[in-house]
Amino acid sequence: MRGLFITLEGVDGAGKSSHLDWLADWFRQRGRTVRMTREPGGTAVGERLREIVLHEAMHPDTEALVMFAARREHIAQVIRPALAAGEVVISDRFTDASFAYQCGGRGLPEARLAVLETWVQEDLQPHLTLLFDVPPEVAAARLANAREPDRFEREQADFHRRVRDAYLRRARQYANRIRVIDGSLGLNEVRQQLVRILEKLT
Ligand code: TYD
Repeated sequence: MRGLFITLEGVDGAGKSSHLDWLADWFRQRGRTVRMTREPGGTAVGERLREIVLHEAMHPDTEALVMFAARREHIAQVIRPALAAGEVVISDRFTDASFAYQCGGRGLPEARLAVLETWVQEDLQPHLTLLFDVPPEVAAARLANAREPDRFEREQADFHRRVRDAYLRRARQYANRIRVIDGSLGLNEVRQQLVRILEKLT
């Protein structure tokens, strides 16, 4: 079986985490081996870098470099081997998050990240990206109930608005890969949207 690389994206509070296990089960019920993972993180080195980048203040360039350093390890240790073995890799965030948060949110030039993307990924791209989209007010209300916020979740409303806009721009740019899910709907409606997308995939 062909390896499948699926990524989940969205602003903090868009609700992607509520669908991760369901998504994995959907593939397992169809006989696939699923590898669930996340960014930043996914490896021992990556998880240590995650702790640093989510909690320590740093220059925006450093932040982008740490994200891609963790990603390099993730690709080498987890993503490529799992895809080569024919597994379904489901990653909670990947490179679209860097373009959305570090370029959209922090204002880094996209050209700078494009260099890192080529360096770290070569020809690797997700087969499918599910972008959970919600209006900023909905995301903010959900986050208000969440546990202790990290460095990104503590950012101002304007930061989250820029992140969302950057995600939606990418969805238009890569319309074949990125599918936008209306995350403000109820759990069941969201799953119906997901099923329609997944059924076309396999
Ligand atoms: P997230 O995936 O939302 O985890 P949790 O659900 O535990 O909060 O948190 C990761 C944060 O890292 C999120 O705010 C987005 C940010 N991030 C970037 O800024 N750039 C990246 O390249 C990645 C992968 C994540």
